[in-house]
Amino acid sequence: MIERIVLIGFMCSGKSTVGRLLAERLGWGLIDFDETIERREDRRIADIFDEHGEAHFRRLEAQLTGQVEARTGVVLVPGGGWVTQQGLVELLRPSSLFVWLRVRPDTVYDRHSRLGRGDRPLLAGDDPRAAIRELLAAREPLYQLADVTIDTDSREADDVADQITRLLLREGVEGRK
Ligand code: S3P
Repeated sequence: MIERIVLIGFMCSGKSTVGRLLAERLGWGLIDFDETIERREDRRIADIFDEHGEAHFRRLEAQLTGQVEARTGVVLVPGGGWVTQQGLVELLRPSSLFVWLRVRPDTVYDRHSRLGRGDRPLLAGDDPRAAIRELLAAREPLYQLADVTIDTDSREADDVADQITRLLLREGVEGRK
């Protein structure tokens, strides 16, 4: 029985929006990792990277993962690089459905140019296209560990959330305890 959903995928794949819609539809809790970390640290992600470095941010992600490990009836939305840390996927694997929101590099670039500038330190360099290509290539094998893959290019978050909800209703969900 599925007791929680973990949305994984690259930056700008729509994880946060889809996660919020999904939690609403299911009446489940929502834990958006980036938002939680920003609230706790009282800093934007970009400032955490700037002041303490990426390794420190990864430690905060790992710590949060340990803290939510026992939660059920919840949609978990880690950041795009969360999958790169060994052991975290395995920690949440029991009774979770991992859903990969897949995006093409061009879609990431377009969405990032429109919406995400300044907010994503790993794409803030001179050549975001190259950064997207390289990071995506390195991470794709990790995202492939998901139970379900959903292509999100040219699709509304609402539509993606509907698809996941239908799938869950078919599979059977346990919900909050
Ligand atoms: C990151 C993705 C970001 C955020 C941080 C690092 C990554 O989250 O956690 O900037 O390594 O891919 P989103 O995937 O929500 O943009």
